[in-house]
Amino acid sequence: MNEHTPTTNEPTANESPSNESIAPEQAPTADLAAAARVAGLAPSIHNTQPWRWRVSGSTLQLWAVRERQLSITDPLGRMLTISCGTALHHARIALAAEGWPVVVRRLPDPAQPDLLAETSVGPRTDVTPEAVRLLQTARVRRTDRRPVSDTPVDPVVIEQLRRVSEREGARLHVLRRDDAIELAGAASRAQRVEGMDPDWAEELAYWAGGDRRHGLGVPDSAIPSQPPPTTVPDRDFGPTGTLPIWPGHDREAVYAILYGDEDSALAWLRAGEALSAVWLDAILHGLTVLPLSAAVEVPQTRQALQRMLAGLGEPFLVLRIGVGDADHVGPPHTPRLPADQTIEIVP
Ligand SMILES: Cc1cc2nc3c(=O)[nH]c(=O)nc-3n(C[C@H](O)[C@H](O)[C@H](O)COP(=O)(O)O)c2cc1C
Repeated sequence: MNEHTPTTNEPTANESPSNESIAPEQAPTADLAAAARVAGLAPSIHNTQPWRWRVSGSTLQLWAVRERQLSITDPLGRMLTISCGTALHHARIALAAEGWPVVVRRLPDPAQPDLLAETSVGPRTDVTPEAVRLLQTARVRRTDRRPVSDTPVDPVVIEQLRRVSEREGARLHVLRRDDAIELAGAASRAQRVEGMDPDWAEELAYWAGGDRRHGLGVPDSAIPSQPPPTTVPDRDFGPTGTLPIWPGHDREAVYAILYGDEDSALAWLRAGEALSAVWLDAILHGLTVLPLSAAVEVPQTRQALQRMLAGLGEPFLVLRIGVGDADHVGPPHTPRLPADQTIEIVP
């Protein structure tokens, strides 16, 4: 399937149906820049924030920043593009919370593959309470690497998350308990393969640990103070961090593979939008989401995930979904780059 096929570039949740069906409206530059600032809160692999926003008149362009691509861990740019997709979804919800229905053209110019999306807006509408709630949720979201509680996840909510993902153009394959054991094997193997590679270890050390005051990477405060006793291991960031761990587990967690029809840049971008949409919806239902990418990064273990999908599609990310512990304070927010390093306003 070609990257510009209408079937996978269809409008989603808060998007207008097409460029033709509405008269474009001039969104004030300030609203587009504000949306780009909200997008800066989005999750990204190792907190690399591999995006740059260009506000020009009434359009907002999203560019991939290759200097912040993980060249060892992510040579294809799959995780980079998924990360940019989460930022795109954050920008969309920020515009929706201002009453702007968006029109997104993904990968609009084959000659410029780093131009991932171009967003404009339709005529302003009333703001819905749902749009405001989503924006508020984006402001409090964070990655929580602690174990989950023993409260089971409501299957009705999982079904709802599957629908949310599908609306964004990617799908969730929910694993049975037996599959979670196989997943645990794949995740541990991925960790071992990556750990044996000195280049990989060097890249990880560059992005993780310390206080990260300069605004990039995963700080100690977000990394567990000891490896959580879970069946499926989270990423081993090397030295332990300072995030306190209570005696939970992942027995009641639901594991799911985020996947799509093809392993292409467009599919990765949409998977990122789906990740953001699923994550925010999960929070609204009292759940935590932890993305796990090591098993996708290593080709052999990615094949194991492909087998678990049994021909359904291409795996992009593993998600752990569970009920967090409301009795303990969660990790603090991770730092972000100053807006003037990620947003360019073209007069
Ligand atoms: C594509 C992608 C892959 C990620 N993979 C992992 C992972 O394997 N393990 C992990 O602990 N966190 C993972 N994360 C979470 C990021 O480390 C996190 O989003 C980033 O450090 C910013 O922190 P925040 O989410 O708390 O804002 C991933 C995030 C994204 C978007």
